Amino acid sequence: MSPLDLRTVLAGLPKFTDDNLLVGMETSDDAGVYCLNDDTALIQTVDFFTPIVDDPYTFGQISASNALSDIYAMGGKPLTALNIVCFPTKELPIEVLQKIMEGGAERIKAAGAVLVGGHSIEDKEIKYGLSVTGIISPHDIITNANAKPGDVLVLTKPIGTGVTATAIKKGDASPSDVKEIVQSMIQLNDRGAEVMRQFKTSAATDISGFGLLGHAFEMATASGVNLTIVSSQVPFFKKARKFASHKKYLTKGNRLNRLLIGDSLIQPKINDEAADNLLYDPQTSGGLLIAIQKNLADNLVTALRNYGYSSAAIIGFVTEGTGKIILD
Ligand code: CO
Ligand code: CO
Ligand code: CO
Repeated sequence: MSPLDLRTVLAGLPKFTDDNLLVGMETSDDAGVYCLNDDTALIQTVDFFTPIVDDPYTFGQISASNALSDIYAMGGKPLTALNIVCFPTKELPIEVLQKIMEGGAERIKAAGAVLVGGHSIEDKEIKYGLSVTGIISPHDIITNANAKPGDVLVLTKPIGTGVTATAIKKGDASPSDVKEIVQSMIQLNDRGAEVMRQFKTSAATDISGFGLLGHAFEMATASGVNLTIVSSQVPFFKKARKFASHKKYLTKGNRLNRLLIGDSLIQPKINDEAADNLLYDPQTSGGLLIAIQKNLADNLVTALRNYGYSSAAIIGFVTEGTGKIILD
């Protein structure tokens, strides 16, 4: 759904005010946070989507990893998960669903969380995901709303799952192209969250459907700052540039993400067309975008790389402003 349409619908809902609601819908953050007591707050999120790879087990892993990520993006630890399933039982063997849920369960276990239930309905199209509940100390919540002028921006995973997934659907991706994005999408952001807790992180969000710039824009708006993204420093998957230079691999989400940012973009186009397209590429189970004090950033990147986020890099910086994105 277009983020602009969604914004209109959400704006029409009644306002919920509750002293214990620490993070609600206003700042387009990754998850809602509700304070239970001085030591514990609940983090809640839900995510599900249609298959982006052919292998059902792998799809289950990707979707679960993606759903768990919104807990990690707030700095939290996932506790429990519920399956959400739409499946065409008349058209596909039930073994396919079995594999999807096994893949999901494998990632839930890897995250140290517990599967406690779920809900399934008959549908023409497969959809799978999780609702996840996590916990965090109310004092340690990392939102997208606290990026500060002088901070630098760190991205933990490469960009380009959208164009590569389209290439897979069209039969134009090689097995090694598939493997590269699958490994990244399956990789949990758990260690990323751990590193964020170790270093004093100002703000964070994970990169998913709105693409790098869409999520950076949400952070800029929520924090009341401008973010500069240095496109030449953004890590891309090996073939992503090649796919992103062909219109046929650009998703509808790519165009919608451009509309989302609209005229909040200063320097609207960079000279590198493939890179420009990738900055809007909708991601599945993408990495974390972290705002952190400049003097801590190199150590943060080193820690991330040591934890297996081998492409982690500084990709920009934060300046005073009013929620604009500057492309460099
Ligand atoms: Co998110
Ligand atoms: Co989400
Ligand atoms: Co039910």
